[in-house]
Amino acid sequence: MKNRKITFLLLLVASCSLIAQGEKDLPAYKDAKRSVEERVSDLMSRMTLEEKVMQLNQYTLGRNDNANNMADPVNDIPPAIGSLIYFSSNGDLRNRVQKRAMEETRLGIPIIFGYDVIHGYRTTYPISLAQACSWNPQLVEQACAVAAQEARMSGVDWTFSPMIDVARDARWGRVAEGYGEDPYANAVFAAASVKGYQGTDLASGKNVAACLKHYIGYGASEAGRDYVYTEISGQTLWDTYMLPYEEGVKAGAATLMSSFNDISGTPGSANHYTLTEVLKERWGHDGFVVSDWGSIEQLRPQGVAKDKKEAALKAFTAGVEMDMMNRSYDNHLGELVKEGKVSEALLNDAVKRVLRVKFRLGLFDNPYTPQTTEKERFLFPQSLKIAEQLAEESIVLLKNENNTLPLKNVSKMAVVGPMAKSQWHLLGSWRAQGNADDAVSLFAGLENEFKGKAQLSFAAGCDFDGDDKSGFDEAKKIAAQSDVVILCLGEKAQWSGENASRSTIALPQIQEDLVEELKALGKPVILLLSSGRPLELNRLDKISDAMLQVWQPGIAGGNPIAGIVAGRINPSGKLSMTFPYSTGQIPIYYNHRQSARPHQGKYQDIPSTPLYDFAHGLSYTTYTYGDLKPSTLTIKKGDKLSIEIPVTNVGGIDGLETVHWFVFDPVSTISRPVKELKHFEKQMIKKGETKVFKFDIDPLKDLGFINADGKRFLESGDYYIIVKDKKVKVTLVD
Ligand code: NOJ
Repeated sequence: MKNRKITFLLLLVASCSLIAQGEKDLPAYKDAKRSVEERVSDLMSRMTLEEKVMQLNQYTLGRNDNANNMADPVNDIPPAIGSLIYFSSNGDLRNRVQKRAMEETRLGIPIIFGYDVIHGYRTTYPISLAQACSWNPQLVEQACAVAAQEARMSGVDWTFSPMIDVARDARWGRVAEGYGEDPYANAVFAAASVKGYQGTDLASGKNVAACLKHYIGYGASEAGRDYVYTEISGQTLWDTYMLPYEEGVKAGAATLMSSFNDISGTPGSANHYTLTEVLKERWGHDGFVVSDWGSIEQLRPQGVAKDKKEAALKAFTAGVEMDMMNRSYDNHLGELVKEGKVSEALLNDAVKRVLRVKFRLGLFDNPYTPQTTEKERFLFPQSLKIAEQLAEESIVLLKNENNTLPLKNVSKMAVVGPMAKSQWHLLGSWRAQGNADDAVSLFAGLENEFKGKAQLSFAAGCDFDGDDKSGFDEAKKIAAQSDVVILCLGEKAQWSGENASRSTIALPQIQEDLVEELKALGKPVILLLSSGRPLELNRLDKISDAMLQVWQPGIAGGNPIAGIVAGRINPSGKLSMTFPYSTGQIPIYYNHRQSARPHQGKYQDIPSTPLYDFAHGLSYTTYTYGDLKPSTLTIKKGDKLSIEIPVTNVGGIDGLETVHWFVFDPVSTISRPVKELKHFEKQMIKKGETKVFKFDIDPLKDLGFINADGKRFLESGDYYIIVKDKKVKVTLVD
């Protein structure tokens, strides 16, 4: 007995010392208790040049059917690769490749898997342009958190989102992906989505790293054509494009993507000023920049590099740390270091940035995606509720002649148009793993809403385009037998998004003809318009009674849209992008600078004002705005100022109202826009109730201006604070 006790004790001591020994031998980078920086430095000290270079490349994994991003099939992924774009919808394939990275490489560095999760992963939300019309950043944050949870549980660590390119040319298909024409709005939604994706702990297993894109100025693509030149002065760069990125970085975005566009002679992916001087040195960003797909090798056709090697040199020394599908860093970076053209210090800095993000994501400690069923990760009731709410708040009532909407006393309803029964097109572009079968079509939504209350009939009438009018007669027949005609029109999903520019933003003639012929029957005509961009609606505006811009509302849009038609829901969306009178007015945006001759310079042939202004959106109730009440009329630099405005709901139903606060500086060293959005707030106002909205002004930020190098100035003088048609002058004294 005594002997057994002694043997047991000896064994215990031996195993304890073995554990201690193991812990002592555990390389610091594998020790989860150490800080990220300690782990990064330790790992760096062990890496060879080749291992470092491999961390800076991204290939693809899995099937990809995006025609703009076709790559060589990657059958034989090098396990030492830094990153992969992951096209699969569960963690299996990832885990198999990750196992090779962990077990077949010398140091066992996990791969980071990225993917375009733009407006939802499986639970597809409205497109971002629509989301911005909700003016509800908290809701957008929640939607991004759901997208992150679904993606991370499916093997994705990193989303290439948010897209925060301010865009003012609706011919550019990518307007669908951003938050509209205003810098401040893009900045607010950038921060909200970064917070939603990343949460408070990137390693939680339910969050993903965000990627601000496309840094920078891509939205200025000339004539709305994709991938082309952008003319952006230093002043415009800072005035218009930088703010969303600055705020996204402040919100903690782990990564950024460098853009395709040539910025006044220096492409976004070879731009030392934006990528290094501003982003890393001024803003102190310590994550990494990934190139856009092929944007390094594209420095060659853009005319700033003679071959891929020079392109790699330019992009890397400018500050692009990871090469997405160029095969330029894996092929040339090592050589460039050996030749002394790229310093080891720069290489080390780049690798550290990538490793830092991997450690923060917890990839070293939990490299694999736990196995779950689709039910365990997708389409939770709460996720669908957010999708429905976001769609509801994104929809904009553009026009409502004689209060045609909501429908009253309707017993027969003709639902017509190519969009009516489509599920596919409601999801828009970049649908990630979205499934059209999950979507509630406009027709299905109306059926759900009016069940037992009205009889619905359907005719497509025509296709989205072409000239086949053979379906018109059937549409006219059902319309003639109905009390109201609901026309479901718009754009196919593939008409917006990447590489989807259009020369006109009008709907194809056949859709306009359909409306015209149905209108001739004398019934009220309501248009439900689904598109990935603002539309040219001046002709349809004249012949319709009501128009509801439903955008591409995602899988849960059908019911809230019908709810608005029926009056169950009071619409509250307001435009995040101007609707021009016609395509010829483009570029047209609310925050343009002042004209030398404001009363001249108009078009001779069309109006010079837009059809629907930025922030336009009707409600079923009426709000009256009281006077603006500033806390003081005179302030000194450094003082704070706040302004309030009471808003009363004098109509018959409760409603959500967004108040937009604009600032105008009439005289400044650098001319300022006619007005600039500086704050917005949305509140529920019950019928008969008054709510007070408040804007706390930080003079330097809200009244000052920025120069061509990003320096902020505040000058004494008069400023106007504007809400709708109310304005108040405040004076800043030295
Ligand atoms: C190219 C697009 O410009 C970018 O937005 C996207 O994230 C990448 N391809 C990866 O798919």
